[in-house]
Amino acid sequence: RSGAQVLVASNRGPVSYTKGDDGALTAKRGGGGLVSGLSAIGSDAGAVWVCAALGDGDREAARRSGGHLDTADTGGQHVRMLDIPADVFTDAYNGIANSVLWFVHHMLYQTPLEPSFDDAFRARWASYEAYNAAFADALADEAAPGAVVLVQDYHLTLVPGLLRARRPDLRIGHFSHTPWAPADYFRMLPDDVAEAVLRGMLGGDRAAFLTRRWAEAFADCCAAVLGAEVTRGADGEVTITHEGRTTRLGVHGLGADAEFLRERAHRPDVDERLAALREQIGGADRKTIVRVDRTELSKNIVRGLRAYRALLAGHPEWRERVVHVAFAYPSRQDLEVYRAYTDEVGRLAEEINAEYGTPGWQPVVLHVKDDFARSLAAYRLADVALVNPIRDGMNLVAKEVPVISERGCALVLSREAGAYEELGDDAFCVNPYDITGTARALHEALSLEDGERAERTKRLAAAATALPPDRWFLQQLRALEQ
Ligand code: G6P
Repeated sequence: RSGAQVLVASNRGPVSYTKGDDGALTAKRGGGGLVSGLSAIGSDAGAVWVCAALGDGDREAARRSGGHLDTADTGGQHVRMLDIPADVFTDAYNGIANSVLWFVHHMLYQTPLEPSFDDAFRARWASYEAYNAAFADALADEAAPGAVVLVQDYHLTLVPGLLRARRPDLRIGHFSHTPWAPADYFRMLPDDVAEAVLRGMLGGDRAAFLTRRWAEAFADCCAAVLGAEVTRGADGEVTITHEGRTTRLGVHGLGADAEFLRERAHRPDVDERLAALREQIGGADRKTIVRVDRTELSKNIVRGLRAYRALLAGHPEWRERVVHVAFAYPSRQDLEVYRAYTDEVGRLAEEINAEYGTPGWQPVVLHVKDDFARSLAAYRLADVALVNPIRDGMNLVAKEVPVISERGCALVLSREAGAYEELGDDAFCVNPYDITGTARALHEALSLEDGERAERTKRLAAAATALPPDRWFLQQLRALEQ
């Protein structure tokens, strides 16, 4: 027991381990917006990050260290990694969190065929309950009296309620890094499951979101599914009362970490990759359209490529003058639909290159091997950033590129990304399903005059860095301590 005053809990922790042929474990930093934001927890001895072992390397690291990872691997952070039985973990993470709750909140189902909630689903749901209980047990065990606990994301929706039952003295908050589904869509879930998710989250003192839109959708779900009472205060504060308990809603729009990015983006490894990318792009005055994503269904990479193809078809003047630099890093490859999507992205990139490429010009430069330094290099040389998700909690790429692009960068941004609430005024807005419209936005973004582009980039960078991770984190602690 660590007697921690501040705890965070998330499925993915700050590091995950792979085991080499020689049996040695190597720690690597995790990707995604959640890990970026939570790194603000720092290395204080009174702060503990509780996470799950994701694979065999992690399980072994958790066992070897007795659950509390070696701080040499974590950059000083105190991390407790839970060794949950592999089958329970897989059912909870792949079977429920990523295939059901992620799909609901990002509205990814093709509803004539999916979803169907049968007995196999029920068995996986029982694993999700057990996995949430394992987190609640560990948190109850680690927390000092009256400690603050910040529970993260759709993997852990039951934890606030389960933890409250074990430790009524704690101050508990939940934070969602995803969108929240509209009530009609959310009600696709079986009634008892929909109720369990909402009740679980209402077990906390606060439930917080990346934008007002997602917080309002959650309030709508509580009213529609539980018949909970939603109150809107004069100060804009929303509270939900259900069965005698009140939970406050909060909005904290996680921003980019300018200081870290600017320093990191100018280290020698990034310079090296920048030179290599320039070589691949060729032609000194060629423009770049940059995108960087996990290969994630909701990121809409395929329609992005189709829009780029439509741009080359409809505006031949851009041929040989622009390159689409697309980084699509493997994600959730245990799920068949993600593997198929990854294949489709590769296939389409090849098709465009075969259709339009010339001896000196490769229209799409696609990289699939996860490399943070190369992502930063691409940000530095971006003329246009393409961020066109179907639906996205925030999207930090949209906030990071304007901060470090060297020539100023025009942002083509989906109106369904959380970041749109803050960056929409200076971006080229797209409906993510509209390929013709996205191609038009790309053309306008590429054509933006230098002065105007610089002005917009400045404003985008200011809005993008308004709430850096350390303040985002502190805001939530303060709000819970009130
Ligand atoms: C999103 C989720 C995070 C998750 C990340 C990466 O940002 O909100 O909870 O960690 O994607 O996904 P993965 O399944 O690889 O952890």
